[in-house]
Amino acid sequence: MNAKLSPGLLHDPALAEHSDLAPGTLDAFWMPFTANRQFKSNPRLLARAEGMHYWTPDGRQIIDGVAGLWCVNAGHGRREIAAAVARQLTTMEYAPTFQMGHPIAFELASRLAELSPPGLDRVFFTNSGSESVDTALKIAIAYQRARGLSGKTRLIGREKGYHGVGFGGVSVGGMVNNRKAFSAVMLPGVDHLPHTLDLEHNAFSRGLPHWGKHLADELERLIALHDASTIAAVIVEPISGSAGVILPPLGYLKRLREICDQHDILLIFDEVITGFGRTGKAFAAETFAVTPDLMTTAKGLTNGAIPMGAVFAHRKVHDAFMQGPEQLVELFHGYTYSAHPAACAAALATLDIYAKEGLLTRAASVAPLWEEAVHAQKGLPHVVDIRNFGLIGAVELEPRAGKPGTRAFEVFLKCFERGIMVRQTGETIALSPPLIIEPSHIARIFEVLSDVIRETP
Ligand SMILES: Cc1ncc(COP(=O)(O)O)c(C=O)c1O
Repeated sequence: MNAKLSPGLLHDPALAEHSDLAPGTLDAFWMPFTANRQFKSNPRLLARAEGMHYWTPDGRQIIDGVAGLWCVNAGHGRREIAAAVARQLTTMEYAPTFQMGHPIAFELASRLAELSPPGLDRVFFTNSGSESVDTALKIAIAYQRARGLSGKTRLIGREKGYHGVGFGGVSVGGMVNNRKAFSAVMLPGVDHLPHTLDLEHNAFSRGLPHWGKHLADELERLIALHDASTIAAVIVEPISGSAGVILPPLGYLKRLREICDQHDILLIFDEVITGFGRTGKAFAAETFAVTPDLMTTAKGLTNGAIPMGAVFAHRKVHDAFMQGPEQLVELFHGYTYSAHPAACAAALATLDIYAKEGLLTRAASVAPLWEEAVHAQKGLPHVVDIRNFGLIGAVELEPRAGKPGTRAFEVFLKCFERGIMVRQTGETIALSPPLIIEPSHIARIFEVLSDVIRETP
């Protein structure tokens, strides 16, 4: 396939200036998590962004219903972030953080520590959510060893969990398409809790479902099977996004915490999508009043402007490593770009915006309107469930017989044609707009979505 971009797609001279793509081929870019051949026969391109909107190369305005990919929490085109990154790049574009340091890395870690759930005030920098997850899993296992419990190596994830694409993340994750090609080379010693999606009991729940707290007790069963002396950590997303927005039943996360405490097992929250305001507080840990021992983040940390992730560790976890001779490296782990200066600058500017505009709590005030709008899709053809929390929404459609995912994919395509970007995952249309969203955008998103659902057989 050698699909060419139509030169007409790039008629805007301001955009064409940067249009290295045109009139070249689309072949060389092997796109991630994409049906490459299908995409390249009918590309959907984004060329510019500002506030709540993207623009296509031919100038069509698109409302961003997913904050890019759950990351542009403060909206697009934030000049403060661009200026901070530019300043940093012209001052010092790179500095190592292995046995060296640079000031804004420490400043950023301190700022994040102030924002973190109680006790999680030690921060390890990565470059993505996947790296944050693999880092947290390694810290958990090394922590147990540092305490003299080197038998505690097993990890417990959850069905339908998404923890990125590293070998650690796919091993504890529970999405079959991400796992099946690699099934023989997964991490050993991993088990999974059952997922908490249950349409029979919880369809059309508003906010957290009431049924399903007991699913946390399955952890007791896994502990009885493997013994706590072999288990390092349990990792879950407080709210799963990638599998189609799966909410924790009321009391479920607290119960997991209790069981982990009873058995001396670390609890890891993967807050890559829930972090930085998505649920109405800085972190879901705070929203749900359950404090994990390790917390993985990325995405909203820099408003998506520069890749960066961070693992927040409870001080007790961190301090367990700070023993032995002081001249020795305590954790043999890190990335060339851990705490990259440009990423630190972007993150600091992002945190300033969040603070100045009250964005980390804005989802809580918009949530009631959002909830009404999402649930207004109830009764439309093929809608079998609707889920919401904070500024997250999901509309699940009935699958077409023998053609899984095609109905939702068609809805996604038609929404894009009509100026709304949503995310399709399986049978679900997921929404997670920038936290700056206004009622008029909400109205438009759901006007288009409901028209499209109505028209899609
Ligand atoms: C919960 C969770 N963990 C990890 C990741 C992986 O993040 P990244 O794509 O930055 O590696 C994601 C991405 O969506 C995620 O939702």
